[in-house]
Amino acid sequence: MRKIQIAIDGPAGAGKSTVARQVASNLNYLYIDTGAMFRALTYEAIKANIHFSDAAGLKKLLENTEIHLIQDKVGQKVIVNGEDVTEAIRSQEVTNAVSKVAVHKEVREEMLTRQRFLAKNGGVVMDGRDIGTCVLKDAALKIFLTASVEERARRRFEELLSKGVSTNLDELQTEIELRDRQDSEREIAPLKKAEDAIVIDSTNLSIQEVVNKILGLVKERNG
Ligand code: DC
Repeated sequence: MRKIQIAIDGPAGAGKSTVARQVASNLNYLYIDTGAMFRALTYEAIKANIHFSDAAGLKKLLENTEIHLIQDKVGQKVIVNGEDVTEAIRSQEVTNAVSKVAVHKEVREEMLTRQRFLAKNGGVVMDGRDIGTCVLKDAALKIFLTASVEERARRRFEELLSKGVSTNLDELQTEIELRDRQDSEREIAPLKKAEDAIVIDSTNLSIQEVVNKILGLVKERNG
């Protein structure tokens, strides 16, 4: 079977990463989590005390930041300049700041180059916000994965609870709405459904159901 590029975009907490990872594993494709790349830069910016509005400073920092996404049996490891930051980039501090770092043209240009390079041989599932509209405009299959904001907040609440972190559901919903707004309203490469993307609303679907739907579409596309 032909090895295609699959783009999965959508708002925060719609289940993109979990779904993308499982689709990739099923097809023996590479999974590329572009959100992790923006999170890695944000984490480094916090460490280096670079302001989130300092586009030139962030660009320079990114030029000196090697980001490796490594797949293993349990999931994905994110290694930045040799340091394992897999857990650290999921912190609330990084989550709240990442959309501010991701607005800059200088940052996005460099990320785009890296993301296209990673996908150049096909056989990839890439998830993010602008993959179908910008990074992989010619992807053979584009999915826009969404779910109601209440459901996305509830899932995040459960996920945190399972890690022993107790949070407030309303606060989580407000944070998610804010991030969606920042990602959708930015000037460069905003979160937007590509014209040729297929919308999957996962509000009432299990992960497995979403994965199966996408695998079905891959089969269709490949004849
Ligand atoms: O998918 P995520 O929640 O880990 O992404 C974190 C942030 O990174 C998201 O709020 C916006 C930014 N991002 C982006 O601007 N473009 C992408 N392709 C992926 C993520």
